[in-house]
Formats: sequence, C-alpha cells, structure tokens
Amino acid sequence: MEIIASYPLLALNTLALPAKAEFFCRIETMEDIQQALSFAEQRQLPVTVLGGGSNIVLAGDLAGLVVQVALLGISIEAQEDNTVLVTAGAGEVWHNFVRNMLAQQCYGLENLSLIPGLVGAAPVQNIGAYGVELSDCFVALDAIDIASGEVTHFTRQDCQFAYRHSIFKTHYRDAYLITAITLRLQREPAVESSYPALREALASYSKTDLTPQLISETICQIRREKLPDPALEPNVGSFFKNPLLSSTQAETLAAQYADLVMYPQADGQVKIPAAWLIERAGWKGVTTGCCGVHKHHALVLTHSSNANGRDLLKLAEQIVADIRQRFNIELEMEPRVLGGNDR
Ligand code: EPU
Repeated sequence: MEIIASYPLLALNTLALPAKAEFFCRIETMEDIQQALSFAEQRQLPVTVLGGGSNIVLAGDLAGLVVQVALLGISIEAQEDNTVLVTAGAGEVWHNFVRNMLAQQCYGLENLSLIPGLVGAAPVQNIGAYGVELSDCFVALDAIDIASGEVTHFTRQDCQFAYRHSIFKTHYRDAYLITAITLRLQREPAVESSYPALREALASYSKTDLTPQLISETICQIRREKLPDPALEPNVGSFFKNPLLSSTQAETLAAQYADLVMYPQADGQVKIPAAWLIERAGWKGVTTGCCGVHKHHALVLTHSSNANGRDLLKLAEQIVADIRQRFNIELEMEPRVLGGNDR
C-alpha cells in the first residue's frame, strides 16, 4: 500500500472543492489498515477516514493521514425467520449495494436508493430517505479503534441512532474506522410508500402493484428530478438538517403559513423541511459571488469552479443567520466540515 504526500482531494469530494491531504492512502485489506495506522502513530498524525466524500465540506487542506476506505465484499446469511443477515464491506458503493440486494430478493433498502456515498459512511449519519432510515434494518458494525488498532463490534444500540445522527458524529467522532456493516433484510417484500412525494408519484398504481423494484425506480426518478447529479453540478445533497420543533412552535408557525409541511415525530416533536424555510426566506436560486442555492431544491448549495470551501460556508452562515432572524429557528449543517486547520 502506497502512502502519498500532498495528495489532491478534488476528485474525492462530491463538492469538488480544492484541498490537499498531507498524506493519503487507500486501504483495501485489514493489513493495509494496520500499516496506515502505524504510519500515523509513528509520526503522531491525526487520521481522517474518507468514504465517498459526499457529505463533507473541505474548508482547506487536511493535516495528517487521510485514509480512503476500499474494503469490499458482501455476504448473505439466511435466517430461520425468513430474513437474511447481510454483511457489506465499508468500501462498497451504497447504491450498488442496494441494487445488488434487490436483485437477490433481499428487501428493505429500496427507499434508500441512489443515496450517494459508501456503505461505511451510512451508519455515521444514519442515512435516511422517503420514510426509511438505515437504523430500521441495522444490526451491527465492525470498526477498528484508530488509537489502539483493535477490532471493535458495535450493536444497533451502541450506535445511538437518531435522525441523521449516531455516536460516530459526537462521542466517537474520528475514533473508529468502520470496516463492515450488518443489516437484517426481508425475504418477503413489504413496501413503505407513505412519504408524500413518493405517494404522489405512485398514485396511479394499486397497492398490489407496488413492488420493491417499483419503489426503487420511482425514488431514483424523484431524486434525479429534484437533486442535481454531483458529477455535473458538485453538491452534497442536503446542506442542512430538517429542524425539529416543539409541537407549540410548529403550531405557531403553521398558523402563520398555511402551506407549512410538517412531519410529526414519535416523541411529540415536529420535523419541518429546512428547504421550505430557505425557500420562504427567498434564497432558492439565489447566487452570491461564486456560490448559490440550487434553483430546483433549496437545501442544495452549489458553487462555480473557482470557489473554495470557505466561500460555501460563508453562504451557509448567511442562510443560518437569516432563518434565525426570520423564524427564530436554528438550522444545523448536515455535512461535516473538514480541513483548514493547519498544524
Ligand atoms: N421544499 C420546499 N422547497 C424546496 C424543496 C422542498 O419548500 O426547494 C419543501 C416541500 O414542501 C417539500 C418538502 O420541502 O414537500 C420536503 O422536500 P423533499 O421531499 O425534497 O425532502 P427534504 O425534507 O428536503 C429530506 C432529506 C433528503 C431525502 C428526502 C426524502 C434531510 C436533511 N434531507 O429532504 O436527504 O432524500 O427528505 O426523504 O433530511 C440528503 O440528506 O442529502 C438528502 C437528499
């Protein structure tokens, strides 16, 4: 395994932001991981684990060793209760994995079709879309403790999943390198089609026509219409999380705005679309300097090719401040900001 100094990361982040890694390597085996970790330990380098680069904003160069995970392999183990336990390497491309599972009649991931990124990053932010979250079928993951090199097993409960959240975003941030995840999938197709945009798109079908394949294809179509392809227009999907309001706060807002979309949560809170707030505040399609808010989806920030991460973060800060002032709601950024702190 080669460890390369001063490695350009432009092609490894879907925002196509220019930044360099002080050192970079691609790990394909468990031996590669141990080699990379001892290299970092000897030089006292911080280690940053990179997946598909589809949920990061590079604010500048990254000090230390950047490790790109390329651990592959998928295994399926049939269970007596007509479910399967599927284990996938962290380096598998998420959408290819979803399609592979569908092709093998293993169901439960179809609503998560076309989410960019790699399998190993999926539990970090508990990816979710169209009424389903990874945590719904998650069983466990294996990870390497970056400080000790030890293999560690995390159950679903250990991961402390919540909306766009896991323990790997807070308490164990940068502490582990996820190597594989295990999910429980169904042999019997059961479709989840209640998410409003999905229900609308499937309105002409009768319930018995709804197959996991149809759900997957419809979601791919909705996503392609709404969200720009990062290969053509660099982006990281949703730039902000959808805020959770108290029921009183949501009712007050709904009384002012009849078209407010609300998703009541099991705990009594109400999730509202950040895109709705940003569009209401007049930001949709607005360009400031080299950065802008996408004209088709107010949650997507884009930039022209001469922008850097700091320019994009400046626009994000302006939006956060404006939403705070107009609605008294605090938007939280969804992607992680990396780099820019020179050692
Ligand atoms: N809306 C607007 N303006 C817009 C876009 C949307 O007002 O420009 C409003 C509409 O009322 C719409 C509602 O927002 O009904 C919801 O929009 P959408 O279905 O596009 O979903 P979202 O809440 O904006 C979330 C996830 C997406 C996920 C979709 C579908 C977050 C932060 N984002 O977006 O995830 O695909 O739901 O489940 O939770 C991602 O994380 O990168 C991502 C794309």
